Amino acid sequence: MEQYIIKGGRPLRGEVSISGYKNAALGIIAAAIMTDETVKIENVPDISDIEILLNVLEELGAKVDRIGKHTIRINASRINTTKADSDNVRKIRGSYYLVGALLGKYNKAQIALPGGCNIGSRPIDRHIKGFDALGSEVKIEHGLICAKAEKLIGASIYFDESSVGATINVMLAASMAEGQTTLENAAKEPHVVDVANFLNSMGANIKGAGTDVIRIKGVSKLHGSEYSIIPDQIEAGTFMFAAAASMGDVLIKNVIPKHLEAFTAKLLEVGVNVEEYDDAVRVIAGNRPGSAHVKTLAYPGFLTDMQPLMTTLLSLSNGTSIVTESIFENRFKFVDELTKMGASIKVVESNTAIITGVERLTGAIVSASDLRGGAALVMAGIMAEGYTIVENVEFIERGYEDFENKMQKLGAAMAKVDSNDLKAIKKFKLKVS
Ligand code: EPU
Repeated sequence: MEQYIIKGGRPLRGEVSISGYKNAALGIIAAAIMTDETVKIENVPDISDIEILLNVLEELGAKVDRIGKHTIRINASRINTTKADSDNVRKIRGSYYLVGALLGKYNKAQIALPGGCNIGSRPIDRHIKGFDALGSEVKIEHGLICAKAEKLIGASIYFDESSVGATINVMLAASMAEGQTTLENAAKEPHVVDVANFLNSMGANIKGAGTDVIRIKGVSKLHGSEYSIIPDQIEAGTFMFAAAASMGDVLIKNVIPKHLEAFTAKLLEVGVNVEEYDDAVRVIAGNRPGSAHVKTLAYPGFLTDMQPLMTTLLSLSNGTSIVTESIFENRFKFVDELTKMGASIKVVESNTAIITGVERLTGAIVSASDLRGGAALVMAGIMAEGYTIVENVEFIERGYEDFENKMQKLGAAMAKVDSNDLKAIKKFKLKVS
């Protein structure tokens, strides 16, 4: 089993370049099968969740050319089934976008219920409600989402509560429905906008993405396109917080600073300096952070994915902080691991963490149980005194490209080693001691 070994205590310094946004790429790659013409997508992150989705596309019969580390070409003219039921489908969350994409193009889809990080119950009722409203019949049978329609007809759909996944999924299907669809209380996240922009580049007619009302005029055909995915706001936020937590000075390049505003605001609030440039942010921290209260919210509020990183940063703060998770009910699992490193955090009613800042964390053997919680444990290792081992790195590799290399380039003493490779562990310790 692979694990990260980290010797903490070194401030991160230097520059890091951010990869394409995983959660936008998942929607865009699914959308690419909605045309029979070739689509070229650039700035695709080289991470396992994306590789898995590309494998699913191939299982459906699409041709996928990986023409560079970050560039792919997809041609879906030879898709020979609308059923995807493999282990790959179940491994990731984003495979559910194939329901919207296949339903839009072929009026039918049978897709295994998706997997993804275990951060809560993650129902898909809002997706189903949207597909229903477009005139399709949707059933869950034998672990598959089965959707079919005579034809899809545009409709007015109001989401009781906003959902990124449901907004993107219904937008995919509606872009090829007959007539106009209006999505109200739609999610406003940057990846909703990126998927809409991609669909528009293929000939769709979608207006209002990024606001809470999205208007879609269905078209009968989509065409090929070339498109570059936006930078990953969560990866950028992770490096911003790691720079702050290590009391370092890092220039984070290839970002859209507007997407990072909620993180920047919190860093400024706890006394960290953030400079904004056109497509970069620089984070400079000299002292222990101050305390803060944070509540996760839909965009443009403080993103739930950044909550584990924020909680971890605040574990070192000078005071008491309260972090409230309002999106997913099970996103404090990493806290048990963090307390092994000396953090003083009490989780009450499963969604509120009361954090009493401590002066230092100390290295320990900890285990990642989801993507962002795992990244937070790596950050804790970088902040801590002594050696930390983070097990189950496969969770982290789902969403972070070259994580250990990017951290190493910033000066972190960190390596990925096989847990049985005692020689490699010894070599690492000799090198960093
Ligand atoms: N929800 C429902 N019913 C639905 C859909 C959602 O009750 O039909 C609930 C969820 O359980 C949750 C809330 O609504 O409580 C918001 O869920 P949303 O649909 O917005 O999230 P998602 O599409 O499942 C995406 C990202 C997550 C990210 C959230 C919030 C992907 C593949 N996943 O999930 O990313 O945390 O939006 O921004 O895009 C990650 O990257 O690590 C990750 C978990």
